[in-house]
Amino acid sequence: MLFIVISLIEVDYLTQLFTTIASLRNYLNVQKSKQPSGQLSVGLVPTMGALHLGHLSLIDCAKTENACVVVSIFVNPLQFSASEDFNKYPRTLNHDLKTCKNAGVDAIFAPEPLEMGLGEIGNSKTTQVMPPPEMTDILCGRTRVGHFQGVATIVTKLLNAVQPDRAYFGNKDGQQLAIIRQLVADLKFPVEVIGCPTIRESSGLAYSSRNQYLSPSDLVLAAHIHQGLLQAKQQFFLRDELDDPSPILEAAHNYLANLPEINLEYIELVDAKTLQPCTQIKSALELMLAIAARIGNTRLIDNILLSHTTTPRKAIVAIDGPAGAGKSTVSKQVANKLGLLYLDTGAMYRTVTLAVLREGIDLRDQDKVQAIASESKIQLFANPIAGKSMQVLLNGEDVTTEIRTPEVTANVSVIAAQSAVREILVKQQQRIGQTGGVVMEGRDIGTHVFPDAEVKIFLTASSEERAKRRQGDLIAQGQVAPDLTTLAQEIQERDHRDSTRDHAPLIQAKDATLVNTDGLTIEEVVTAIVNLYEQKVQNL
Ligand code: PAF
Repeated sequence: MLFIVISLIEVDYLTQLFTTIASLRNYLNVQKSKQPSGQLSVGLVPTMGALHLGHLSLIDCAKTENACVVVSIFVNPLQFSASEDFNKYPRTLNHDLKTCKNAGVDAIFAPEPLEMGLGEIGNSKTTQVMPPPEMTDILCGRTRVGHFQGVATIVTKLLNAVQPDRAYFGNKDGQQLAIIRQLVADLKFPVEVIGCPTIRESSGLAYSSRNQYLSPSDLVLAAHIHQGLLQAKQQFFLRDELDDPSPILEAAHNYLANLPEINLEYIELVDAKTLQPCTQIKSALELMLAIAARIGNTRLIDNILLSHTTTPRKAIVAIDGPAGAGKSTVSKQVANKLGLLYLDTGAMYRTVTLAVLREGIDLRDQDKVQAIASESKIQLFANPIAGKSMQVLLNGEDVTTEIRTPEVTANVSVIAAQSAVREILVKQQQRIGQTGGVVMEGRDIGTHVFPDAEVKIFLTASSEERAKRRQGDLIAQGQVAPDLTTLAQEIQERDHRDSTRDHAPLIQAKDATLVNTDGLTIEEVVTAIVNLYEQKVQNL
């Protein structure tokens, strides 16, 4: 009896809570009859509660496309296996009701299991929906046996109960989304399935109800899962039609191998629609790079979509300037703060310089240098360990330290001045940055590599200040450090060579913001750039 009494509770005059299908349908019919046209577009956002910003973005999408938005809140026992956290799954109904009210949700549908044709802890007797096994038995389905059948069954029940025009799901649950699209197509549901972008914390960590199980240090660690995906994305844009995709996966594996506390369950590249493994890059396909990993007992999933087709580009931050102005430290921190990919293009020129020095050929022999540059396989990985340089591989060998020796430093500008070398490396940089979302540091990013970068910074400092910093870096790396006068002189000579070379000289782009770092802390510089990015990106 109590059940009937609470079947309709007024949360406020906008958001109403329903626990029965009949009362929800009655409400929707009344709303429809109030419309002059007798039509009411309904958007359903299915959730298991514990609402976070990811859900709010689904609600926002639904609100822009429908006259009436229904959020369902139901912790579905069918999608938890016996060993999973069904009882521990966060249940925060009061908080969820407030969140929905503030977000302008029209109706909440929060049924009891019985109303959904299930017993308290699931009911094996309910009719089950079985999506194609090729889609359910891979990726997460390997360890979460029966999970996607449980999702498909409850989503079918919810679509039948609410009968929405559109249903909204997050791209973050990429396998779930693909299975639901297939289900809706196969069973001819008259509903449009909308996949919405993954919402991330500023660290890059995707919002998830499970994040609340993570300690502050786990949260820092968890952000590296997305960084691993970004490393792989960088490799994706270096691959061509019909290429073997394994270096893409290798890039993520190599990055995460530095972080043993992240217990990788899988990382796979699949066709985002069919979920079948990708064995060859095909530009017509949208690919999904999907990952599942555990930190302690918490299982996290994430994915990114990869496609060579032209999608609107995300913002690019170009940070140019002379050596020793603090570009690397600042760029890395800006990238971390904004959740963007970081690319040190100077490291690429250093790597070619090292390859040339190792061959013992004349550095000015442009043909030979060009041949070495085009044959060298350079891989860059943002190093997950704070304060460390970007990890650099030359033909698979780790040369992170070797490319910073005084010998490479003294010769890099001769190599970087050669137009053939620049062309090869600039093409790679443009491919890595073609979908944006990257902080790229170098000497010609804002003028040459990405002249249309949304945010351009010219970072500089006096030669005295830069000499002091360079000396400190060399000492910290355990190398012999020349005196300050010698270092300042070397720096001025290098500035001169860089700014007078014929091809892509080091100059401040007309639309770049000049930042002189003399007397500023790194934090102050980073904050200034992050603020500038936020202003510019907001005004795009
Ligand atoms: O993504 C979720 O929260 C659930 O899997 C869903 C779609 C609400 C089905 O229970």
